[in-house]
Amino acid sequence: MNELYPHPRINGPIIQVTRLSKHYSNGHGVIPVLRGVNLEIHPGEMVAVMGPSGSGKSTLLFILGLLLPASSGNYQFLGQDVLNLSRTDQADFRRRRVGFVFQNCDLFENSTVYENLEFPLVYAQVERHERPARIVAALERVNLAHRLRHPANRLSGGERQRVAVARALVNQPQVILADEPTGQLDRQNGHMIMENFKQIMAQGDTSLVIVTHDTQVAECCHRTFSLEDGVLYES
Ligand SMILES: Nc1ncnc2c1ncn2[C@@H]1O[C@H](COP(=O)(O)OP(=O)(O)OP(=O)(O)O)[C@@H](O)[C@H]1O
Ligand SMILES: [Mg+2]
Repeated sequence: MNELYPHPRINGPIIQVTRLSKHYSNGHGVIPVLRGVNLEIHPGEMVAVMGPSGSGKSTLLFILGLLLPASSGNYQFLGQDVLNLSRTDQADFRRRRVGFVFQNCDLFENSTVYENLEFPLVYAQVERHERPARIVAALERVNLAHRLRHPANRLSGGERQRVAVARALVNQPQVILADEPTGQLDRQNGHMIMENFKQIMAQGDTSLVIVTHDTQVAECCHRTFSLEDGVLYES
């Protein structure tokens, strides 16, 4: 499936994070959020991250997707130190290696479903004639091919979430970072999303980090972690 950007074959971990810390600064001082997170993820692994609201789960995903800088620590992706890449190389990493499902879906409201999925392909310089088939295939995975020309602002909450998942899949990324992708879905659609992820991971070279509050979602994963007081514990 991953012929867009052939995934380098590796034996070791895809993601290796050590002593990662993150604090936010605001007018009142410094807010420590992550205090020495360690995490190792292998190709094909599905990893769940749970934890109370405000514990830093989204912050961790943002750092893994290079959408937010870490305060300190080390992050190797396929053995490469990605925290210290140039801005251009970080953008290239995001475009080619990562599929992100944001907690709030973040669709382009005035665009169609098709245009929402086309954006990452344009950004990754996929040729125009190759785009429709990829977009339809990603939408079929989430049973939304019939919504192709529908404006995003007329979708239901669950449909939006499924479009957000399809958008993360369309570029055939090497790691999918999904922030509560089933939070607004009924059991059946939540199950469908997890079965999709399982099928993709079973091919062996893509990994998934999924933030969830749902123990049934976590049970679909190979390993579950809990983020508490800035530290990640395997449960
Ligand atoms: N840009 C920011 N500036 C300051 N503080 C922030 C910022 N973003 C997040 N925080 C704080 O960092 C902490 C962790 O936020 P984060 O969004 O990572 O939590 P979360 O575990 O994803 O929570 P939830 O389950 O509610 O989505 C919270 O206390 C939040 O208020
Ligand atoms: Mg969050």
